[in-house]
Amino acid sequence: MRLELRGITKRFPGVIANDAVDLVIEPGEVHGLLGENGAGKSTLMNILYGLYAADEGEILIDGQPVELREPDDAIAAGIGMVHQHFMLVPVFTVAENIVLGVEHTRRFGKLDRRRASREVGELAERSGLPVDPDALVEDLPVGIQQRVEILKALYRNAQTLILDEPTAVLTPQEADDLFEAIRAFTGEGRSVVFISHKLGEHRAIADRVSVLRRGRIVGTADPRETSEQELANLMVGRPVSLVVDKPPGSPADPAIEVRGLTVENAAGTVVVDEVSFDVRRGEILAIAGVEGNGQSPLVRALTGLQPIASGEVLIAGEPVAGRSRKQILRGGVGQVPEDRGRDGLVGEFSVAQNLILGRWDDEPFTKRQTLQFDVIGAHARQLVEAYDIRTPSVDTPAASLSGGNQQKVVVAREFDLPIDALVASQPTRGVDVGSIEYIHERIVEKRDEGTAVLIISSELDEVLALADRVAVMFHGRLVGPFEMPVAKEAIGSMMAGTDPELAMARGGER
Ligand SMILES: Nc1ncnc2c1ncn2[C@@H]1O[C@H](COP(=O)(O)OP(=O)(O)OP(=O)(O)O)[C@@H](O)[C@H]1O
Ligand SMILES: [Mg+2]
Repeated sequence: MRLELRGITKRFPGVIANDAVDLVIEPGEVHGLLGENGAGKSTLMNILYGLYAADEGEILIDGQPVELREPDDAIAAGIGMVHQHFMLVPVFTVAENIVLGVEHTRRFGKLDRRRASREVGELAERSGLPVDPDALVEDLPVGIQQRVEILKALYRNAQTLILDEPTAVLTPQEADDLFEAIRAFTGEGRSVVFISHKLGEHRAIADRVSVLRRGRIVGTADPRETSEQELANLMVGRPVSLVVDKPPGSPADPAIEVRGLTVENAAGTVVVDEVSFDVRRGEILAIAGVEGNGQSPLVRALTGLQPIASGEVLIAGEPVAGRSRKQILRGGVGQVPEDRGRDGLVGEFSVAQNLILGRWDDEPFTKRQTLQFDVIGAHARQLVEAYDIRTPSVDTPAASLSGGNQQKVVVAREFDLPIDALVASQPTRGVDVGSIEYIHERIVEKRDEGTAVLIISSELDEVLALADRVAVMFHGRLVGPFEMPVAKEAIGSMMAGTDPELAMARGGER
């Protein structure tokens, strides 16, 4: 199947998300889509998937114009899409989710569970995406849930599969498995549209990369002939530095002290196991690790979102236990939560309101119990400018911003005030390379203002770029911290749990 988009234009209030875009997806190719946050990648693919109607332009399949009014039309035409936010039913099994709405698995009006399970098992095996068809989706880690989404599209016989930032939630091993499955899929003459902010991934998997900038295609490149630096420059339209310039820090007294911290989940299982470390003012401690090894409950305990089973956390010398979350955040802790949608933003609030979340009744935003709209607006405009947040205005609801721009709103708000401690989880997830450069520079600046910075990241390159000291979470326990430099391979093997001490010793020799 050959897909062609011709002159696609899509306007939203105040922005042209897609501006006369021409794009051809050839059979058998992996077509990479690269572009800054808000460049229009998701919008373009949502149009191809029938979710949005284009204002202008047409879509052709094998040379014939088609009307894709809703996803069902796109699916019938052989187009499948896996969104950044999954759309599975958590309480259904894998097989039920996959066959949902496809009629031939019904028997006497009821779902034929055995047949569904068998078919899904076979499909999973054949596609190189193994999953247990009878597992409940809510029990599966995100990486496997994503497989289920892909299998759902394959079950509907997708000839072109759109993957919108699929690797953002995957471990390196899961990403490799996904790439294998993509190669097998396109080897049969089918095609994939692959969206990612990771330049190395385009070079690894894409046959061609099209670059979008502010709604327009600015070039199509052969990723094997184009360096990461060239791709970055093309996408941002200026030279981008891919490494942070980080002078050595001058650490002082600890502002975050964690002593024998143990945290249990709702079922009473220990998920953080006697973890101890300090973060000193003026240093960056990075906690690396494959997601799901206890990092989330650790951060939630540090910031008052989850109770502590035993042990102690002190921030600026004060115990966190017994203080409300609001007191903790007001008391000089900045936080970039891993799930910005749930803990970082209120989608229906404007950008300006989100930029003062939790502080709206403080001076200067409120005076004599009256909201100071001009002050709030000016504050927002200044941060939007500084952090290059792409939004039509500061009054736009946060939910209508692109994913990466939502992340920039959270970062801008949390970095704005002087703080004792900054706890940032996956601070650049979904953020484009130009903005990663900017956020990393701000993190180093925060450190040099004397903030104790704790970064939790599953991105090894980010850990290597930022850390003054590094630790690794594995199965709820902390290995380290160690002074940098530590070899990338050594951190990698600690993340994989393969003999941490030995890996450390080997890394130290390099
Ligand atoms: N439903 C919507 N309502 C209003 N504006 C929207 C909507 N969806 C997208 N936009 C706007 O369209 C532009 C393109 O957004 P889009 O989500 O396509 O960007 P993107 O390239 O996918 O970015 P990211 O890398 O951050 O995911 C942005 O300016 C965004 O604010
Ligand atoms: Mg997007």
